[in-house]
Amino acid sequence: MRIVITGAAGFIGSQTAHLLLSSGHDVIGIDSMTNYYDPLIKVARVAQLVQTSNFSFQKRDLAKDDCRDLLDQDTVVIHLAAQPGVRASWSEFESYANANVTATKHLLDAALECGVPRVIYASSSSVYGNSSDFPTTETAPLEPMSPYAVSKLAGEQLCRLYASERGLHTTSLRYFTVYGPGQRPDMLTHRLIAAAHNGAPVRIFGTGNQIRDFTFVGDVARANVAAITADSSPGQVFNIAGGSAVSIKEMIESVEAAVGLGQRIQQIPAPPVSGDVPRTDGSASLAESILGWKPTVDLDQGISAQVDDFRSTHAQLPRYAISA
Ligand SMILES: NC(=O)c1ccc[n+]([C@@H]2O[C@H](COP(=O)([O-])OP(=O)(O)OC[C@H]3O[C@@H](n4cnc5c(N)ncnc54)[C@H](O)[C@@H]3O)[C@@H](O)[C@H]2O)c1
Repeated sequence: MRIVITGAAGFIGSQTAHLLLSSGHDVIGIDSMTNYYDPLIKVARVAQLVQTSNFSFQKRDLAKDDCRDLLDQDTVVIHLAAQPGVRASWSEFESYANANVTATKHLLDAALECGVPRVIYASSSSVYGNSSDFPTTETAPLEPMSPYAVSKLAGEQLCRLYASERGLHTTSLRYFTVYGPGQRPDMLTHRLIAAAHNGAPVRIFGTGNQIRDFTFVGDVARANVAAITADSSPGQVFNIAGGSAVSIKEMIESVEAAVGLGQRIQQIPAPPVSGDVPRTDGSASLAESILGWKPTVDLDQGISAQVDDFRSTHAQLPRYAISA
């Protein structure tokens, strides 16, 4: 099977590409290599991927560039390209609208025109906002609490619309906080691990009692692959939740245990408007019954894998490591 992965130079995209390549699929990666975090990290991921002969890479901006030459009736698309990050979305909304909404619309138009059989869309647990139903199911109210979450929901709604009105088979996967080897340097687990290694203090917003349903990146990559062939309805939405809902304080303790070092934590009052929600805790029952997917990696195993990866990557890529 041929799969186009958008955002292939990113954290989840590169891991999904490795998983598909290891099963012998042909993968084309598309990425515009944004500088939201150090693009050298993305260059290193692509350099690793192109070592496999059935991977090729195209640097394109999906909000502007055509990608119809890469799509056909035998090609499935996994659409991960996006502008991530909750806080910056309040002040830099144009890049969120371009990357998360305009690019998704262009891609869906191209997929429809080229007869692509299926598009998998990377949605986000942030679409639930301040949910009060736990574990949260796919039918819970959608009340995004940040412009980022609004833009991800807009992309998801476009996927639903192209399924119901245009006959394109789309599937949206709402990932809950993804962590593990290669995690984006702006994300909490990476910042905790980097800070523990270099002795720097790490800043956390608020009390540390916020709960996140941490989901291991290898499990997320498996969900993307499962969605390619699953017997799902066009436009269907699934939670991809790791079943490891713990507080930030507990996450800090787990990282300390894995690294073998304590950390200096600086608690900063949460900004009055941030977009952070007090709790995410998703039900993955629907994904289990229809995608045949459930998480397999628990938090301690996942953190330990991320710490090992951080240590080996840091040795090879000095600029990568110390970002906390
Ligand atoms: N990491 C998480 O915890 C998480 C949780 C929920 C949802 N998601 C979603 O999963 C997807 C992947 O997230 P990630 O953590 O790997 O982020 P990432 O930033 O590492 O990867 C996204 C990639 O998309 C690329 N990109 C951005 N705009 C583009 C454009 N216009 N054209 C082509 N490429 C473009 C970026 O250069 C980047 O490499 C995103 O859609 C994100 O919203 C992530």
